[in-house]
Parts: sequence; structure tokens; C-alpha cells
Amino acid sequence: IGQTTFYKSKVTSTQTLAKEAYREGTPHGTAIVASEQTGGRGRMERPWQSPEQTSISVSIVVKPDISIREAPQLTLVTAVAAAEALEQMTQLPVQIKWPNDIYINNRKVSGILTEMQAEAEVDKIQMMIVGIGLNINQKQAHFPEDLREKATSLYVESGKEWPRAYILQALFIAFEKWYDTWMEHGFDHIRETWEKYAALYERPVKAMQGNKTVVGHMIGINREGVLQLKDQHGEVHLIYSGDLE
Ligand code: BTN
Repeated sequence: IGQTTFYKSKVTSTQTLAKEAYREGTPHGTAIVASEQTGGRGRMERPWQSPEQTSISVSIVVKPDISIREAPQLTLVTAVAAAEALEQMTQLPVQIKWPNDIYINNRKVSGILTEMQAEAEVDKIQMMIVGIGLNINQKQAHFPEDLREKATSLYVESGKEWPRAYILQALFIAFEKWYDTWMEHGFDHIRETWEKYAALYERPVKAMQGNKTVVGHMIGINREGVLQLKDQHGEVHLIYSGDLE
């Protein structure tokens, strides 16, 4: 991972560049890193702020040998890698909020966006692009007003500035480790670590899937990486996508 890395100063979105690199035949593990994005994208068409000098935006092209059903697991694998890298580097209390947000002290420090290209007829993934946005050295006042209460950075949480290359390196190492574990041993080997980092574990949550709302206690994720909520009648609901409140 990151053997081939393209460093850019300012781009629209590293996701778009990674897609182009894939089309041009770039190898598995290629990373596109940008110092600033002008059109950073989040999940569900939300924008993602990646200001110059203070954030890291990276997109990694991977070519896993998996079926379409297994693809959402990559988000969880990446979340474990990002959580571990940030925790090891900073010693801060890092948590994962299902499915793909990294939180420190109840504020979001990092977001993950995975996109894929698949061959539906043979149920095979051709490639996936994992995008990771990390807030590193932003001061609280740098966040736009509507995000100020919800977003944080390593600087805000630790009171010191972090060399971005150092964090990026740790992220690549952790990503490679967890990606290889996933490929060699399957998602079940990642589950325990994911649950160790999970915010809201065994707590009551509300899951929104489209316009359906499920209320229950979060009892973890299953062997396939699907979120499980137990409602008041003891019935277990499987949540494949959506947001938690
Ligand atoms: C989210 O929290 O909704 C996901 C945010 C993902 C942001 C990253 S930054 C690198 C890559 N390029 C993008 O345009 N988005 C992802």
C-alpha cells in the first residue's frame, strides 16, 4: 500500500484522481494524497472540507478478490486501520462510529468514503477506492461555524501540531496490516478490534436507513460486518447501511 503514491498540492477530489489512475491501469495499492481539496466529497453527497496545510486527503486504489456483498466490509477495515494509526500516534481516545466515522471525545476527526466498481454478472469487485479525510492541525476556529461543534482535529484534542507525513505513514502501515488480515483470514478476524473501538457499543441508538428508523441497543457487528441492533422485544435487526444517532 502506498508503494506508488502521487502527492498533489491542490485537487478537486482525490477520489476522482484515483478513479482516473485506475482507468490508466495503476497497480493495487496506489495512493493519491492531496494537501488541499476544493471539492472533497463525503458520504451521501455531503461535502467534505479539506483545507490546505492542516488536513490529509488520501484515496487508495485496491483490487480485492471479493464478492459485491463483502464490499461494505472495506469501510470497517479502513476504520479499524485509521483508528489504530491515530491512537498509536497520539494516544488519544479514538473511537469508531458506525459505519465509518472516526471520533475523538465525541467529535469527528476523520471520515471514510469507499466507492467501487463491480462486475454484477459474475458478482466480482473489480476495484475499490478508499478515501480517507483526516483533520490534523486545524484550530477550532478554522472549522466553518456549522461544523464547529461536531468536528475536531488532532491539534484541537492534543494541543499540538502533528507532522502530516508522520500520520500518513502510520495510516499506510495500519491499512496494509488490516487489509492483509482481511484478505487472508476474512472479516471475522477484524471484528473484535472493530468492536473494541466502537462508540455506542451496547448503548441505545437510532439507525436511519433511508426513511426507515430502527431503535435498539447496538450489540455489535456480525461475522460479515453487518451492524446488529436489538430492539425492546429482543428482536435483532441487521443494518446494512445508513447513519446512527
Ligand atoms: C464522510 O465522512 O462522509 C466521508 C469523508 C471522506 C473524505 C475523503 S478525503 C479523501 C477522499 N476524497 C474525497 O473527495 N473524499 C474522500
